[in-house]
Amino acid sequence: MMKKQSNILIVEDDVSMREFLSDLLTSEGYKVDWSIHGADAKKKVERKSYDIVITDVVMPEVDGVEVLRYVKEKSPDTSVIVITGYSTLKQAVELVKMGADDYFNKPFDNDDMLLVIEKALRRRKFLKDSEGFEEILEKPDTFPEIIGKGGALQFIFEMMKKVAKTDATVLIQGESGTGKELVARAIHDRSPRSSHALIPVNCGAIPETLLESELFGHEKGAFTGAIVRKHGLFEIANDGTIFLDEIGEMSFFLQVKLLRILETGAFRRIGDTKDLSVNVRVIAATNRVLKSAVKKKEFREDLYYRLNVFPIDLPPLRERKEDIPLLVEWFLKKHKLTEKNVRVSDDVLEALSKYSWPGNIRELENVIERAAILSPGKDIEVDYLPVEVRYSDDSTLYGGETYDKPFKQAKAEFEKTYLKKLLEKTSYDIAKASKIAGVTRAYVYEMLKKYNIDYKKK
Ligand SMILES: Nc1ncnc2c1ncn2[C@@H]1O[C@H](COP(=O)(O)OP(=O)(O)OP(=O)(O)O)[C@@H](O)[C@H]1O
Ligand SMILES: [Mg+2]
Repeated sequence: MMKKQSNILIVEDDVSMREFLSDLLTSEGYKVDWSIHGADAKKKVERKSYDIVITDVVMPEVDGVEVLRYVKEKSPDTSVIVITGYSTLKQAVELVKMGADDYFNKPFDNDDMLLVIEKALRRRKFLKDSEGFEEILEKPDTFPEIIGKGGALQFIFEMMKKVAKTDATVLIQGESGTGKELVARAIHDRSPRSSHALIPVNCGAIPETLLESELFGHEKGAFTGAIVRKHGLFEIANDGTIFLDEIGEMSFFLQVKLLRILETGAFRRIGDTKDLSVNVRVIAATNRVLKSAVKKKEFREDLYYRLNVFPIDLPPLRERKEDIPLLVEWFLKKHKLTEKNVRVSDDVLEALSKYSWPGNIRELENVIERAAILSPGKDIEVDYLPVEVRYSDDSTLYGGETYDKPFKQAKAEFEKTYLKKLLEKTSYDIAKASKIAGVTRAYVYEMLKKYNIDYKKK
């Protein structure tokens, strides 16, 4: 849509990077100019109006910070995206505070980068349209209940602050347990609607027919069992916010009804003949990548664009491991364990940082809680972590330390780890495990006993 007419200026001193970006964006249909240094960029910005300026941060003489400052002064409507190496991520966030619209990290994936551009354009357009709407009320600008000191989270906080003051539809995407609901609540709590309700609905957990009457309500006698009139959640959420969780699971039929309410604010109770209208802000969340669902024709494209007015993507925990120690502290406090002086050892922190956390922050929280229960009143030791966390790292199997030990001990350690991993892989199916290991079941049981492994786990 908007992208085809967009003028982009690339400011990058590195030749190969500049040419690469320029080719990529040109092939995507953008109109591209480039500068090899900041001073030239300033001249170009003075002469021509750009929709987006993409600038490297670290450049000799006139750097990305100066380019940003200059662009925002001369042409406030231009979006600025900064390119940053991992080490300068923190600085990128500072730049976002100064007015940059987004950033991407080097090295980057082509699709990711194109997405960042698209998103920056969309957010920018939205914030421009809703200018003057901001500052209606002063709400605290921090998010103490959301832990994250890494750049990725800091950037998300900036976005949350901006969007909280508005009525924009927000689409939060992230794997399971990354904090989507937490973020949704934080936005609502800091919005002008905070004195009204936030109504959460899990669209994945409720069958289609039931979901329809939950969301939109029904008239008395609309269907068998509809003994009384029922108000839908959209009515109940009037003047507040509705949180549509797992929106990716919503059926096509309901997607149409949702699209209508988003476009017009109007809907109809089941069995009713007239429209009702509501004033509800929608925050949607999904752990699927909605764009791929659209490509597979499983999700309506028009609805996707309606929802994706202001996208927020939560990173998986494995990409923000620097936050693990803080999160652990936080969960100890949350579950009142610090009061009991429960602490975690360095070994535990090390094990936690090696694990890949498929269940993300929720899984981490569960692990800490469980370990605290298993070691009442004591510090949490590695032994109290679940097997998969304890042995996520193969160095116990093949690491250098193995060779400093007596053979008997190394062999025993190997056997124990081998068995645990095997059991995890076979979901604690002893028959399967013995088959893979090529030993009898009796032998497996013997080893389990010898190493004190709890095989009734699942
Ligand atoms: N950054 C964070 N700081 C502190 N706690 C967090 C953070 N992110 C998530 N949590 C906690 O982790 C748990 C899971 O978060 P939440 O329910 O928001 O995840 P979700 O993305 O909605 O997961 P799902 O997709 O499974 O519904 C909650 O207890 C939440 O408070
Ligand atoms: Mg959730």
